Amino acid sequence: MNILVTGANGQLGNEFKKIALFEINHNWTFTDIDTLDICDENSVSRFFTENNIEICINCAAYTAVDKAEDEEELARKINSDAVKILANTCKSSNSLLIHISTDYVFDGTSIRPYLEDDPVSPKCVYGKTKAQGEQNIINSGCNYIIVRTSWLYSSFGNNFVKTMLRLGSERQFVNVVDDQNGNPTWAYDLANAIILLIQRFDNKEVKEIFNYSNEGTIPWSNFAEAIFYIGNKNCEVKPISTQEYGCKANRPAFSALDKTKIKQFTGIKIPFWRESLLKCIEEIKNNN
Ligand SMILES: NC(=O)c1ccc[n+]([C@@H]2O[C@H](COP(=O)([O-])OP(=O)(O)OC[C@H]3O[C@@H](n4cnc5c(N)ncnc54)[C@H](OP(=O)(O)O)[C@@H]3O)[C@@H](O)[C@H]2O)c1
Repeated sequence: MNILVTGANGQLGNEFKKIALFEINHNWTFTDIDTLDICDENSVSRFFTENNIEICINCAAYTAVDKAEDEEELARKINSDAVKILANTCKSSNSLLIHISTDYVFDGTSIRPYLEDDPVSPKCVYGKTKAQGEQNIINSGCNYIIVRTSWLYSSFGNNFVKTMLRLGSERQFVNVVDDQNGNPTWAYDLANAIILLIQRFDNKEVKEIFNYSNEGTIPWSNFAEAIFYIGNKNCEVKPISTQEYGCKANRPAFSALDKTKIKQFTGIKIPFWRESLLKCIEEIKNNN
């Protein structure tokens, strides 16, 4: 299969680059905004035709959750409108679109982990633009797999784990919210789960949403404590409320994702968050 990974310089895209080194059954192409701007309809269409793209894994996104409150137009352009362009291109070229979405499409009021068909009700601009992106895919009629994930981190790019490791060396304590609960997810695990989905739907005839995150639901404050412990940082976590912390964007208070469906379809054994955090921090240390 000819697989295109868009937004390939980000966290998840870089994990696919790692995997592609030994996933030699497929012909991989990696692009980012400098080589293929997904907002540019003509370029996208031409790229698909010239390279005979059979599967597009869209890792491109506007991911700055707080900044999106001030840059709604740009967030919408990338997370909603460009996704529509990709979906329409996949429809006309009979390609499969694998798109990554987010737990922030939910409002966080559920009393159990979210299922794929629970109604979306985003509370922030980022979540709204991602939810619209999902809807644009469904409306296009293309074959798609939408994978919703949460609290993504990696040895690549900027993320909570790398920020905490840095602050852990600089400060004696950090304030971290303890009233938002969710599932941290190592982007490498997510990329491997997507490879399993590609193998499961190798005829490309699919229209499904899946949840994927690491196992275990915790507040950000517990996640920070584990990062300091594993990363050997002598830094204290001071748990505070979301209101005290004062972020611009509203985030769901509870966004755990139910992974029963992906387990049933692929037989995947999902690692517990702490196990994956350990491996990622090891990788970060080795890279330094
Ligand atoms: N990060 C999380 O905690 C999280 C949680 C749940 C779901 N997700 C979703 O998971 C997916 C992957 O996230 P990630 O953390 O890997 O994102 P990321 O690190 O922010 O990477 C996104 C990449 O897309 C690029 N991009 C932006 N606009 C583009 C355009 N018009 N054309 C082509 N590329 C463009 C970005 O380039 P620039 O850096 O130059 O803008 C960046 O390299 C996204 O769909 C995201 O919404 C993320």
